[in-house]
Amino acid sequence: MKSIRKAVIPAAGFGTRFLPATKAQPKELLPIGDTPAMQYIVKEALDSGIEEILIITGRSKRAIEDHFDSSVELEELLQKQGKNKQLAMVKDLADIKIHFIRQKSPRGLGDAVLCAKAFIGDEPFAVLLGDDIVYNPEKPCLQQLMDCYEQHPGIILGAQFVPNEKVSSYGIVSGEPLADNLYRVHGLVEKPSVDKAPSNLAVLGRYILTPDIFDILENTKPGVGNEVQLTDALAASKTDTYALAYEGVRYDTGDKLGYLKATVEYAL
Ligand code: G1P
Repeated sequence: MKSIRKAVIPAAGFGTRFLPATKAQPKELLPIGDTPAMQYIVKEALDSGIEEILIITGRSKRAIEDHFDSSVELEELLQKQGKNKQLAMVKDLADIKIHFIRQKSPRGLGDAVLCAKAFIGDEPFAVLLGDDIVYNPEKPCLQQLMDCYEQHPGIILGAQFVPNEKVSSYGIVSGEPLADNLYRVHGLVEKPSVDKAPSNLAVLGRYILTPDIFDILENTKPGVGNEVQLTDALAASKTDTYALAYEGVRYDTGDKLGYLKATVEYAL
């Protein structure tokens, strides 16, 4: 069995829910405390044992590349001023092995993941969505999915139960319980109305995928919102699929209230 070494972080979305803040600035760099949201996601991947990361960007997202690049002038200045702690901080960021590719037009999450095809090749991989920050000081969320994959090699979806009024915001699982917090997935629906939702178990921002998903994505027609949906490709996959109700407090930082909550609770 191949282990999970690579992670993909889609970050090409416009962030319309945060306009005007996100007109010229990527939503992924909005700070939670003193740290951009994207940095928490990258840290979670590294803490889980991921070796290489691909961030899918788009137009007006260049600042994400700059954030993880070295900044010679800044490093020289910090050195001159003897600000060693800050110097180490910015150098550490530049040392992370991150690759970037641009999604040419915003055609949806499925299309963004498809941009990772050449980078991934023929191995299972992780996907972390930049809007979903999961706080778990004991075991990173992605690590929980990776451990699950060791027992159940296949597609693993990171999920949690959400209240009725939220099901229409997420990909919803239809499945049966297999073990504590683990479900075998029989079907998936993207953003169903509450009366059509098969359950309250929502896919929330973390995935372990197998490389056969790329062929499916290539043939997936636009779905909800006229976008190529990752959920639709997953629903069409023949690979064994599991949903793990992961442990941790999850913040939807793509949403104003979720972002505020994350900011306050991380500060505390
Ligand atoms: C995406 C996915 C959806 C998932 C959600 C939260 O939707 O399409 O299935 O439940 O992320 O992780 P978005 O929030 O980008 O509209």
